[in-house]
Amino acid sequence: MDANSPIAYAFSMPVNKSHAPLDSTALAKSLAPFGQSRMLPPEAYTSDEVFAWESANFFAGWHCIGRSADIAAAGMQRADKVGDTTALLVRGEDLVLRAFANVCRHRGHEILPCGGSTTARAITCPYHSWSYRLDGDLFNAAAYQGESNFDVSEFPLRALPVQEWHGWIFLDPSGASGPLEMHLSGLSERIGPYQPERLVVMATHEYVIEANWKIVNENYQECYHCTSIHPELCQVSPPESGENWEPTLGSWVGGWQELREHATTMSLDGHSDGVPIPNLSPAELRRIDYIGVFPNLLISLHPDYLMTHRAIPLSPSRTWVECSWAFPPEAIASPTFDPAYAVDFWDITNREDWSACESVQRGLESGFAKAGPLSPAEDAIYQFVTMVARGYLGQPLSPLNVATPNAAQTQKVDH
Ligand code: FES
Ligand SMILES: [Fe+2]
Repeated sequence: MDANSPIAYAFSMPVNKSHAPLDSTALAKSLAPFGQSRMLPPEAYTSDEVFAWESANFFAGWHCIGRSADIAAAGMQRADKVGDTTALLVRGEDLVLRAFANVCRHRGHEILPCGGSTTARAITCPYHSWSYRLDGDLFNAAAYQGESNFDVSEFPLRALPVQEWHGWIFLDPSGASGPLEMHLSGLSERIGPYQPERLVVMATHEYVIEANWKIVNENYQECYHCTSIHPELCQVSPPESGENWEPTLGSWVGGWQELREHATTMSLDGHSDGVPIPNLSPAELRRIDYIGVFPNLLISLHPDYLMTHRAIPLSPSRTWVECSWAFPPEAIASPTFDPAYAVDFWDITNREDWSACESVQRGLESGFAKAGPLSPAEDAIYQFVTMVARGYLGQPLSPLNVATPNAAQTQKVDH
């Protein structure tokens, strides 16, 4: 069965609209008008119960699980953590990417261990060697040959909705989050000119941050802190420059900042060792766009490279983040190309950010924290926080979306 087929969606309907285990009065304060609102209550960042709810709801809906280029060849298979379970990604002979529950239809053994990968012409369970085609159909179950009461067509792997979008892979483990196009509504117009799908990742750093995944998102959504903790960034980009965009029907938040006059990109001295991404507008060549796609992908569009942060929450107070830098083929064609000008700058800035995030986590765990106010410069955090608060209450994430089910309303279901 094709993971993208309507049949895959038909297996799954929203079954749980429970609210997160948080005080609704506190959430109402988070949803008050901008200027009067408060942050999420501290328990949203510290509670095991809230974390479990988020794993079963936010991370059971559409979220990014990597880049297409990492699983590009026919037969490539990979098992990834999604929410609190794992999914199996498979590139078919037809080069279509499919996703399945990583559970054998015989007695439930995992097809691959979480984090494992292989390349083969079939999907084989390691326990009793049931074999599935790359499209998930069972074709061989040892010792069942000739059994009249056994029909292999009854036991395909359970397909999950998966979609490739501008070179990223998005998965909806719940199968109940509606079209990805709604989740990302309005974003292709912003991202499209940069052609992320043709950019090549030349460097990747992994970080484990001792802070809740939302603190990492919130930190990304404001430059109110830049003057205090980012001297390098302020050298090349005025922290007070730019604006944030109005909410859309999509589940993302974003805005832009300018480059200082001497700078052509974000690097320690503003110089670029690459080349501009082809066909960008004069305005796009003078600014950085910062986009947070709910719940776990941060996309930073530079004139000459694209940086992404992809997060996987590990616990209420710990988050794994993969930071990648991708460049246009025209830049890496040079035998002397070195991505260090971008990587070094952002690695310094990342670590400044993680240090602040970890301090916030400790403060929120101290027992003395109360939900604080947002400054006028923190309007994008307001967008993010209200998105989370609406999700906690079982409402659509976008303030403009009053009718369409989305990740916030779903919970994993038995397909
Ligand atoms: S559990 Fe997979 S073949 Fe038995
Ligand atoms: Fe920062």
